[in-house]
Amino acid sequence: MSERDLYREVVNEVCEVVRREAKGKPPKVTLSKEVAARLNELGAAKELFDAPPAPVPAAPSAATEEPAQTYREKMFAAPVIPAPAELAPGDPSDSLERIAEEVGGCHKCALGGLRTNTVPGEGAPQARLVFVGEAPGADEDRLGRPFVGRAGQLLTDIIEKGMKLNRSDVFICNVLKCRPPENRTPNPDEVACCEPYLIRQLAQIKPTVICALGGTAAQTLLKTGALVGSMRGKWHNYHDIPLRVTYHPAYLLRSPGEKVKTWEDIQEVMKLLNGQIPRPF
Ligand code: URA
Repeated sequence: MSERDLYREVVNEVCEVVRREAKGKPPKVTLSKEVAARLNELGAAKELFDAPPAPVPAAPSAATEEPAQTYREKMFAAPVIPAPAELAPGDPSDSLERIAEEVGGCHKCALGGLRTNTVPGEGAPQARLVFVGEAPGADEDRLGRPFVGRAGQLLTDIIEKGMKLNRSDVFICNVLKCRPPENRTPNPDEVACCEPYLIRQLAQIKPTVICALGGTAAQTLLKTGALVGSMRGKWHNYHDIPLRVTYHPAYLLRSPGEKVKTWEDIQEVMKLLNGQIPRPF
């Protein structure tokens, strides 16, 4: 089989799958910008389709099908609509709901194929305090909600028993919106794919304070490789929002002796929220 025939066969297979999927639905296919551009290029490359197309295998419901078309006609009959471009952080038409919807359909990295649920985050859209963790674990993946496992219970206690706030008054999210296998540390590619969602969430909420829980959150937000121990105890500047770094609740479960340090960090956060200390910048 020539390379061209092989190529046509692959394209034909794809067309068939798309056609079957699209049956009964409006004749529109939403594609990423890259795929749309590639298909448009292929559409322009007429020589690929000059030879007569391979015969179309008769489908079982042939009687109800539309009149026979060439594959090329079928393939390019549906308008190619690029997927909506990702909005810039703070775009007036952006919203937490829109971000959560995009996260729900995201397959930018391989974790999209492994998840049960995406975990975009939850809480008050106008929260004055945002907690940012690392990535969903097994419980979060199962329920589609952040910090609902053992570490989550500790975070809830910090918020409700320690800070005397309702969990629903703050916003809680993670750097990654899908669970990494075996809860391994997110790899840089995964962070690069997912971080735009976090940036957009923070640009929508515009909190008074951000609290980064653990190294992955702090390093991602502050663009540093520094360790939590050296980042604690001072204010950092995240795009003019004061940011405090503290230990991740999962670490505190393993090292309960460090809880006192997190409580010191949280008290600083509360002082800023309550106007008991001036904004650091
Ligand atoms: N650990 C995290 O970093 N995030 C969660 O949502 C749960 C556990």
